[in-house]
Amino acid sequence: MLNTEDDSSDKRSAVNRARRLRKIGSKLPPPYPNGWFAIATSKEIMRGKAKNIECLGEHFVVFRASNSNEVFVLDAYCPHMGANLGVGGIVKNNCVECPFHQWRFNGDNGELVNIPYSENLSEVEKFAKIRKWISTEVNGIIFVWYHAENEQPWILPTVDEVNDGSWVYHGANEFTINCHIQDIPENGADRAHLTTVHGTNIAAGMDVCKSRESIFSFGTHIWDAKWAVNDDLKHQSIIKLTHVFNVLSFKLLKIDSDIRQIGPAFVILTIKTIFGNAVIFQTLTPLEPLVQKLSHYFYAPWYLAWFVKFLIWGETVNVGRDVMIWNSKEFIKNPLLPKEEKQIKLFRNWFSQFYSENSKSFQDAHQSLDW
Ligand code: FES
Ligand SMILES: [Fe+2]
Repeated sequence: MLNTEDDSSDKRSAVNRARRLRKIGSKLPPPYPNGWFAIATSKEIMRGKAKNIECLGEHFVVFRASNSNEVFVLDAYCPHMGANLGVGGIVKNNCVECPFHQWRFNGDNGELVNIPYSENLSEVEKFAKIRKWISTEVNGIIFVWYHAENEQPWILPTVDEVNDGSWVYHGANEFTINCHIQDIPENGADRAHLTTVHGTNIAAGMDVCKSRESIFSFGTHIWDAKWAVNDDLKHQSIIKLTHVFNVLSFKLLKIDSDIRQIGPAFVILTIKTIFGNAVIFQTLTPLEPLVQKLSHYFYAPWYLAWFVKFLIWGETVNVGRDVMIWNSKEFIKNPLLPKEEKQIKLFRNWFSQFYSENSKSFQDAHQSLDW
């Protein structure tokens, strides 16, 4: 009989070994580019609750005021004796109180506003300030602004149909991926992989080792993508993606998508079909220098529920195929690109705007995690 515990620990150690031995590539770009990063969904941060969130090499306490809907993001560690404000912190109005000795900090500016047992607040308050992070809440997602040069943020666009409630939430998927953050948005400018990775029948599943099995060859997907910089907003790029599902040479389903990449880590995909339109929000967050959390949130009119379920399945299979490639690839600084792949060069050029002089290097980011 199989000992399932041993079996799963064997699998775990095999995965960890593969991760250790994997080539990651040399001269990696900085792991945390400048931009807006999703740190939680709106639903995860209830009114009057605080949460500890670790990503981008930082520890954040994210909390929602107890007397309004406002969300605040501060550094998580209390300057008094180091407790984590996101682990048991108590929210009072727009302040968070430390779970260790109840020092209270203002979410608006990170300033210390109360020590319950001391008269000497003014002596310590100037040293006791916590870093306040710029944050915003749009489309049901809470974002933090991360910028190595402390530049001011751009505005994140909202989708009217989602914010006025005429479209409803239909579901989400989430992946944890071992790769450099840049590999993931680069996929949108990579036309050639669309046929190789996503051209085979979706019914064949997400395992790229099996997706070409001939029993599924009755159906194929034909894709094309045009990638371009948004000339009006340089931090945005736009992809026009077309898709046709062919079954025995009949064109069964056509889907056109407008994909707006906003900075390094947020994408709005607008899907257009004969049944109606839907939108997918894609968020990307570095949990570690080479570990990314990738999520998709699906919204559409309520009557498209049946279609969006199909869409979620199809998108999950397709992203799962990309994940298999991302999980085992290395990052190549100067890839060999024939002229037909100039979109990838253009993408890399565009993406380089999110790295700056003081961006933390991969080596520094990696070392700060070691202990
Ligand atoms: S550690 Fe936070 S109040 Fe003491
Ligand atoms: Fe892909």
